Amino acid sequence: MGFQFLMEELGVECRSATVELPDLLNNPVVRLVAQKHKRTAAQVLLRFLAQQDITAIPKSTKAVRIHENGDIFSFQLDELDMAALSSLDLGGGQFPDGPVAPEPARTEEAPPRTMNTSVTLSGGQRMPLLGLGCWQAPSQEVAAAVEAALLAGYRHIDTAYLYMNEDGVGEGIQAALKSGKMTRSDLFVVTKLPNAGMQEGKVEKYLKKSLKLLGLDCVDLYLVHTPFGCVERSETDVFPSQDGKPLIEFSTDLIAVWKEMEKMVKLGLTKSIGVSNFNAKQVLKIVSNAEIPPAVHQVECHVYFQQRALREACKKHNIAITAYAPLGSPGRKVLYESRGATVELPDLLNNPVVRLVAEKHKRTAAQVLLRFLAQQDIIVIPKSTKATRIRENGDIFSFQLDELDMAALSSLDQGEPGRSFHMSMFPGISDHPEAPFWTPFQDMKYPL
Ligand SMILES: NC(=O)c1ccc[n+]([C@@H]2O[C@H](COP(=O)([O-])OP(=O)(O)OC[C@H]3O[C@@H](n4cnc5c(N)ncnc54)[C@H](OP(=O)(O)O)[C@@H]3O)[C@@H](O)[C@H]2O)c1
Repeated sequence: MGFQFLMEELGVECRSATVELPDLLNNPVVRLVAQKHKRTAAQVLLRFLAQQDITAIPKSTKAVRIHENGDIFSFQLDELDMAALSSLDLGGGQFPDGPVAPEPARTEEAPPRTMNTSVTLSGGQRMPLLGLGCWQAPSQEVAAAVEAALLAGYRHIDTAYLYMNEDGVGEGIQAALKSGKMTRSDLFVVTKLPNAGMQEGKVEKYLKKSLKLLGLDCVDLYLVHTPFGCVERSETDVFPSQDGKPLIEFSTDLIAVWKEMEKMVKLGLTKSIGVSNFNAKQVLKIVSNAEIPPAVHQVECHVYFQQRALREACKKHNIAITAYAPLGSPGRKVLYESRGATVELPDLLNNPVVRLVAEKHKRTAAQVLLRFLAQQDIIVIPKSTKATRIRENGDIFSFQLDELDMAALSSLDQGEPGRSFHMSMFPGISDHPEAPFWTPFQDMKYPL
């Protein structure tokens, strides 16, 4: 603050005139810690340094502030506060041109008191904001998980042909329906077109296979799982591959596939259609050629990778966003390692800022991560096969994050470096004209 003023006073032509100076006193994480200790942001900033034996020499000529800044020995920051404040370090020591933290999402108005538990899709259908994810849940486990989730109040289940568990999902749905506590029309079931079905004439066949496994006449939403296809060698070959690499079909025609998807709505086999793992350009390609526009886009989305640009593009076209990996998908570690990949996965559940917000609301980190997204009308589909976690993850409508919490969590966005699902899970895909995004990453054994 004072630095810019001084330069102007001295008449120094200074780059800082156009540079955003760090606004530590309004940093939402600092303010969260200050709120917790009923102290000012300045006191927290000074105490943070003093507690590490760093001498702080705050300047002020105002008696009240001098007094305030001096009162930093009557309270103590705990380990969590220190970790949250430490996580603000941008490194480099390049004042004032250091790395620019992503702008916190604008929270123009306070979140509603009673929040939506569903969103209205472009076709008028209501889609529950909370669903159960089913990836990496074998059939025998997923049946019990789906039943537990539906009995706990979930009304939305997310699966895929590629998860090879649609039969178990179907079993779980039937068991829950038998309880008499819900009817099929209360449920929102999502499944996805596999890569091998991404050719003209094949979409109907694969959707019918999914319906048969699920034991349903129709799903609520059918998604194109990825924007690239694989060669179909046989109908039972879920991940067509050779020498540990997927048999990629390089001539995927997204518009032709979309026309087939539209037919599925007309045939009454699905109520809505959408996409998954598409980039913004691919979404626009579909939108500008669609008779029935995509209702939903399912993508990786969580506090470290908030997908602001893609979300904005989708919003313009009334496409709802479903966040996959909303907890950071920690279960992938074992899977990746078993395939010979050493990957650093984001540890969202232990992030100190997330934990600080959780502590404030007496909630778990998982609940905060999910609520943060749902409060922005982003659909969340956390996966768990454990009944206690299913219930915990489902309890996100009984509390509310305030503007400060939202700003602190928004500030965790890392943009593109926060992406943790890389298409290099499909070795060779970078050569595909429709490879949606590509980040070099150690190739691992396919299929995952
Ligand atoms: N379209 C796509 O390409 C795509 C890609 C990935 C995922 N998805 C969908 O999105 C869903 C969610 O993504 P995801 O499964 O990758 O990741 P996630 O939901 O972020 O994380 C699931 C992992 O977190 C654990 N977990 C769940 N609740 C927890 C809690 N309260 N505390 C601590 N750990 C907890 C689960 O273990 P336990 O089961 O042991 O509890 C599991 O290992 C998937 O299941 C799938 O339906 C779609």
